[in-house]
Amino acid sequence: MSDLKTELLEKRFLQPFARKPASPPPLWLMRQAGRYLPEYRQVRTSAGSFLDLCYTPALAAEVTLQPIRRYGFDAAILFSDILVVPDALGQSVRFAEGEGPRLDPIKSVEDLSRLALSNSGEKFAHVFETVARLSRDLPRETALIGFCGAPWTVATYMAEGRGSSDQAAARGWAYRDRAGFAQLIDILTEASVVYLSGQIEAGAHAIQIFDSWAGSLADDEFARWVIAPTARIVSALRARFPRVPVIGFPRGAAAMLKAYIDGTGVDGVSCDTSCPLPVMQSIAKAGKVVQGNLDPLLLVTGGPALDARVDAICDAMAGLPFIFNLGHGIVPETPPENVTRLVERVRRTRS
Ligand code: CP3
Repeated sequence: MSDLKTELLEKRFLQPFARKPASPPPLWLMRQAGRYLPEYRQVRTSAGSFLDLCYTPALAAEVTLQPIRRYGFDAAILFSDILVVPDALGQSVRFAEGEGPRLDPIKSVEDLSRLALSNSGEKFAHVFETVARLSRDLPRETALIGFCGAPWTVATYMAEGRGSSDQAAARGWAYRDRAGFAQLIDILTEASVVYLSGQIEAGAHAIQIFDSWAGSLADDEFARWVIAPTARIVSALRARFPRVPVIGFPRGAAAMLKAYIDGTGVDGVSCDTSCPLPVMQSIAKAGKVVQGNLDPLLLVTGGPALDARVDAICDAMAGLPFIFNLGHGIVPETPPENVTRLVERVRRTRS
């Protein structure tokens, strides 16, 4: 039996990518490792800073495994952050307690001299070591997902120096100086290929590209800054690792999903909470894997409201290439027992 066949039989997460819809659907949750888990908060406190946690393979592997032990998800996602890439390139990132990320902003083409891919080796190596440990330590039936932020979304944090509600610094730069902003996107595209290739070589079975701020762009800008760089990443990975599926998450861009899928060549898309179920059905019927899209707030609410929506999503996607997930990450206020309830509910589903 080929390696691929063995992996498919062992890892339910991979089945939809081989056009074998699984029932019940494979299940994992964005931010499944994180502050809602007491065992995470304990490791986080002992690690020092958040980035120390990301760069310490033994601890990063431990927090990746925590939700797998507790819930038995079909996939683990590497514990790291999308801002490891700017940090490794030379724009140091800090996580202020309770305030989110802080970076010294890169505002124009002159500032790009602060970045160099040649800086990144040591920091990336810590992340690859985490992946290598996980590929040894995870149960055979659990797939390992590697990831990066898409160049556009990472650039929004680099230009703003922090999270923002409108991504004005990056959008403004892109309008003012297209060639200069394109240089930043090119640096990130190249770094992302190196970063993801290293994760795959260390043992990741699939890749997710997080474009959390894709929804803030006009359609022509979306084509230039979301679709084009993502397409370059996908084709570079496909050339080297043809069997590793790539999932895109263009959050807030349901109206652009068809253009995104056609233009990037991704194997699957993760849909955010506002993406209508009929849109997800039509993408899956056209043969792409769809992941999604329960509102993370329903995991805070729990109870019958949670059950009803889980059932509605599973019913709509029954028999299609589908992976159950949230429409965005788990929030820290989530009671862990509501995640248990969700897992039991999804696993009851049979089509
Ligand atoms: O379990 C997992 O999903 C794996 C790890 C993971 C983290 N961040 C850990 C994290 C992943 C895949 C990410 C992706 C990420 N990081 C995204 C894309 C997805 C999304 O949520 O839209 C973005 C935009 C970031 C940037 C980022 N990292 C912000 C804005 C923040 C602060 C907000 C917050 O939730 O605290 C982070 C910090 C972060 N990344 C935490 C975790 C568990 C919390 C920090 C802590 O524990 O102190």
